[in-house]
Amino acid sequence: MDIKPLPEAITPVEACTLVIFGGSGDLARRRLIPAVYNLLLDGLLPDKYAVIGLGRKPMTDTEFRNLVREGVIAHSRQALVEDTWQAFERHLFYIQGENEDAQTYRALRAKAEQIEQTMQLPGNRIFYLSIPPSSFASVCEGLAQSGLATPPAGSAPYSRIIVEKPVGRDLASAQQINEVTGKVFDESQIFRIDHYLGKETVQNLMVVRFANSIFEPIWNHKYIDHVQITVSEAEGVGTRASYYEEAGALRDMIQNHLLQLLCLVAMEPPYSLDPNVVRNAKMEVLRCLRPIVGKDVEQYTVRAQYAQGTAHGQPVPGYRREKGVSPDSITETYVAVKAFVENWRWSGVPFYLRTGKALPKRASEVAVQFKDIPQILFNANPANPQPANVLTLRIQPDEGLSLRIISRVPGTRAQTHPVEMDFQYSDVFGCPSPEAYERLLLDVMAGDASRFMRRDAVEASWDWVTKILDGWAQQKLRWLPEYSAGTWGPVEAERMIQNDGRTWRIL
Ligand code: BG6
Repeated sequence: MDIKPLPEAITPVEACTLVIFGGSGDLARRRLIPAVYNLLLDGLLPDKYAVIGLGRKPMTDTEFRNLVREGVIAHSRQALVEDTWQAFERHLFYIQGENEDAQTYRALRAKAEQIEQTMQLPGNRIFYLSIPPSSFASVCEGLAQSGLATPPAGSAPYSRIIVEKPVGRDLASAQQINEVTGKVFDESQIFRIDHYLGKETVQNLMVVRFANSIFEPIWNHKYIDHVQITVSEAEGVGTRASYYEEAGALRDMIQNHLLQLLCLVAMEPPYSLDPNVVRNAKMEVLRCLRPIVGKDVEQYTVRAQYAQGTAHGQPVPGYRREKGVSPDSITETYVAVKAFVENWRWSGVPFYLRTGKALPKRASEVAVQFKDIPQILFNANPANPQPANVLTLRIQPDEGLSLRIISRVPGTRAQTHPVEMDFQYSDVFGCPSPEAYERLLLDVMAGDASRFMRRDAVEASWDWVTKILDGWAQQKLRWLPEYSAGTWGPVEAERMIQNDGRTWRIL
């Protein structure tokens, strides 16, 4: 197979220290430490590195290593290999501290310096904020005052900060978080994570569009009827009710993941892969999103909550009955939005976005539906129209791409039938794709911000989403439309798309 390296493959990664705030938390155990371990297994980590977990729980380094070892066994993409693990765990350390306590940062600095000296690390530091946003200010201040956060300066060791979501709950709070981090770190040092941007198929969106000559000429309102972006989750709210009650599907998924997918589908071709060139192109899309305000909120958005139902044969309680959820909650667990990108390329093309919890299965995709062919020749019978061509990029779980075309059925009866030209990653490339966090952590080590959210983009998407939230607040609903758990969402969402003469795709 003739495999060509992408330009990004040559970015060098220097030795560094990764400090994880929230080091004993779920994200660190399930995703972050397994991601670093997989980078090691794939030979992508620099020779010298250290990981320091920082958390409230008192723990020794050994206890921390045992804790995250369990996380790696349970969640790592590649199985734990005993001798590699033994080598890896010598690079893992733990420090206990409160984020609000100045002493924490003095102790962290002392520990980091001691480790860096022993392991001959140059002092490049990455601070990962896997903690609630209410602590961001204290952490940034603590890092600044202890001298751990240093400004960017040529060849001097770098300081970088990774900010986990949620970056705010509306425009004002997002701006506040950006102010707080921006006071201590320069924008070039801040990496706001949206883990969807690290997913293999999401990265492939740009390659499909800009490394093939056949799509770009037809990628516009003249040939495309509409786009559907679906992120469907089978799980209910699980153990995250306290966070989710305050968020809901619009904030949790649309503001970041789905809008980022929309940007990748709709953006103009960037002239290079320079992070700011790519992010400028995406930013243009956000600027062109038609605001959904006033009466449009009712017409262009649907929100709903799951009611009692079944998933995989098991009963699922309604959302309001989930542990930690208020019995009169109006937090949406499903949202569908009809969005428009008001520029020349996309004039009049609806982008239907939908996402929800407790849906029939976990499946995410971007589907680009092309216009119907004229009603002549093979499409002459209006009672039996030919289905349109659809290009589908499957993000998860069975990553791949397919194109629906109409074919003649062999035989003498002169019949046609839609067929799928299908490409599955696993069939062609064999190995499972890296987890998003692997790609993204490596990007931060390399200083490549193209797959991270720039401040203006975060604020632009919050601006658009906040207008919808304001519209919803004015509706003063006491209950939301419902859908039974394990079904494809509320009837209102069906109606929204059917009113346009279209239907949701069945995944
Ligand atoms: C997170 C949301 O950002 O993405 C979760 O907070 C959601 O509610 C998750 O479940 C989905 O991510 P993935 O990678 O499992 O599709």
